[in-house]
Amino acid sequence: MSDKAVEHLNEADARAELARLSAVLADANRAYHTLDAPEISDAEYDALKRRNAAIEARFPALIREDSPSRQVGAPVADGFGKIAHQVRMLSLENAFDDADVADFDDRVRKYLNHSGVLAYTAEPKIDGLSLSLRYEHGQLVQAATRGDGEVGENVTDNARTIADIPHSLHGAPEVLEVRGEVYMSHADFAALNQRQAQAGDKTFANPRNAAAGSLRQLDTRITASRPLRFFAYGWGVVSDPLAATQFDAIARLAALGFQTNPLTVRCEGPDAMLAQYRAIEAQRASLGYDIDGVVYKVNDLALQARLGFRSATPRWAIAHKFPAELAWTELLGIDIQVGRTGALSPVARLRPVTVGGVVVSNATLHNEDYIAGRDAKGQPIRGGKDIRVGDWVQVYRAGDVIPKVADVDLDRRKIDAQPYVFPHECPECGSPAIREQGDAVRRCTGGLICPAQAVERLRHFVSRHAFDIEGLGAKQIEMFFHDADLPVKTPADIFTLASRDAANGLKRLKNRDGFGETSAAKLFAAIEARRSIPLDRLLFALGIRHVGEVAAQILARHYSTWQAFEAAVTHATPGTAEWNDLLSIDGVGQTLAESLTAAFQNAAERAAIDALVAQLEVQPVVWKAASDSPVAGKTVVFTGTLEKMTRAEAKARAEALGAKVAGSVSAKTDLLVAGPGAGSKAKEAARLGVTTIDEDGWLALIGAT
Ligand code: IVH
Repeated sequence: MSDKAVEHLNEADARAELARLSAVLADANRAYHTLDAPEISDAEYDALKRRNAAIEARFPALIREDSPSRQVGAPVADGFGKIAHQVRMLSLENAFDDADVADFDDRVRKYLNHSGVLAYTAEPKIDGLSLSLRYEHGQLVQAATRGDGEVGENVTDNARTIADIPHSLHGAPEVLEVRGEVYMSHADFAALNQRQAQAGDKTFANPRNAAAGSLRQLDTRITASRPLRFFAYGWGVVSDPLAATQFDAIARLAALGFQTNPLTVRCEGPDAMLAQYRAIEAQRASLGYDIDGVVYKVNDLALQARLGFRSATPRWAIAHKFPAELAWTELLGIDIQVGRTGALSPVARLRPVTVGGVVVSNATLHNEDYIAGRDAKGQPIRGGKDIRVGDWVQVYRAGDVIPKVADVDLDRRKIDAQPYVFPHECPECGSPAIREQGDAVRRCTGGLICPAQAVERLRHFVSRHAFDIEGLGAKQIEMFFHDADLPVKTPADIFTLASRDAANGLKRLKNRDGFGETSAAKLFAAIEARRSIPLDRLLFALGIRHVGEVAAQILARHYSTWQAFEAAVTHATPGTAEWNDLLSIDGVGQTLAESLTAAFQNAAERAAIDALVAQLEVQPVVWKAASDSPVAGKTVVFTGTLEKMTRAEAKARAEALGAKVAGSVSAKTDLLVAGPGAGSKAKEAARLGVTTIDEDGWLALIGAT
């Protein structure tokens, strides 16, 4: 399509061509600026940019969010080395009001079975970016950004230029990873932006962006010229414990030479925590740097260790966020986006407005009930006021999430404003869009025939926690989806790309604008590298509703191999042994089971999955024996009352030792831990000859007595 004259393009062609140009130009930019290895000539580059501009001039409505004409300067480099964090860098659960904080304290005490008042630390949540600093024998040897929490970027050279970060420590443990936040003060941010503007360089939207942009510079001299600061608030690997409490550990970091936040205090229970929250909130405007809430952490480190982690957040900490910032603006239109599972999501197109330092032009409107002014139960929200195109609406941002619409000003509503009619047909494929009972969301029923769903599924398929194919991101997927010579319509098509390309003669990828021999070969190699894939990643990548990363992992651990999984979900219907086995998995409920089996028992879906798997080598997932503990790899069921620990703690501990915890007893159960009051499960275990022990027996077995 790339050779068709602009004036001969129809709208669909133009949309596809803009997608292609955006991908091609982004790659060319990356090759030029970041890799210092241009793949196309300056003249070719300019011609592509002109073509993009000409199409945009003819079809202004199709201008993309990521259009090359909107891009200023070079993309941020991704040329840093990668560092795997030995201790994951997690995020925090959020609390938005006093009740959430009280709930947090209740949950913690319940988990620990602690009846008295519990001590916490409270400290400001710094709005910057987190950094992990590794010291060995007192010398700074490595600095890594958080990245996805498991793997971050190596920014050691840049971190060394930050004055708050000591290069050497005296009296520190042999190995010590200090974690904290890199940030920029308001005054430094204003001065930096002024310098940038004077030099004709890009200015930053807020101090957080400025800090992130400054730390992630490939040229260390640029980082050195930026006024970055660092507060230490935690640690990763430590060869000797820093202290017995969070508060003392932070004091120890301060004694070692780190800046720690002076507003960190110890609080006894939720009332004291909330008092400190208000005290910090009152000082927020005069601190001189951005904070977006208060973080509470269980003070006793032994209790922190007992509490442990959920999949992405610690159980022992929570971030109490400050109320979001608000602004009024005009609602220009409502677009409907169709997601991976067919969900029709209304998006507000807004007259751009600055909210908390960031320009906002889109906001989510959630679903049709939200627009109509009612909640999922049919109760009025916003006093029952609906939202209409042309209305003045109040938007807010809370954290990094998509902006939301909070309120509407009826006094400014135009006389002829019409109630919004939510479509009952998919705007992308025309299939009926229906709402199932109890579902707030209207969904397109087109499945794989809906191009929007197909593209979103492909995007999900190649995303970071799924197949993560280097060089095949969302943009490239969109380009290949619309490509006439080398189309990718389903995941299986990705793995036949190279062989199909080989048969394309002159139209081969390497001969295209923006591709070239090396980048085409690199792409094919990256795809090839993912032909062998662990079962859990594959299950997540399929994008089946309700099968997120955690569920995919649970399923993969249970079935171990693709063959076992596939046989089970093909035959599982209510009443069968396969169905009962599926539901016996701890973490698998009715909804997930129904969604999973429906996908595998639907002919079209199944054909697409089978075609994909035929291309792959699926690696079995072996339940990781987390330790040499006697319960590693064993399936354990808890029943009855546990007296020394709560059920949640018992489960988390067992899993940390490499055991699988199941919800019901079956022939696969290795061990039943039965407390007083055990009933049918104990009987079933006796019938099946499953070893049964009591709580003390369990504690002795895991060496916890
Ligand atoms: S503790 C295991 N304390 O907030 C939890 N985080 O939403 C480690 N942050 O990624 C985090 N100030 O970048 C902690 N006083 C503070 C913080 C803080 C800012 C950031 C940090 C983290 C994010 C979590």
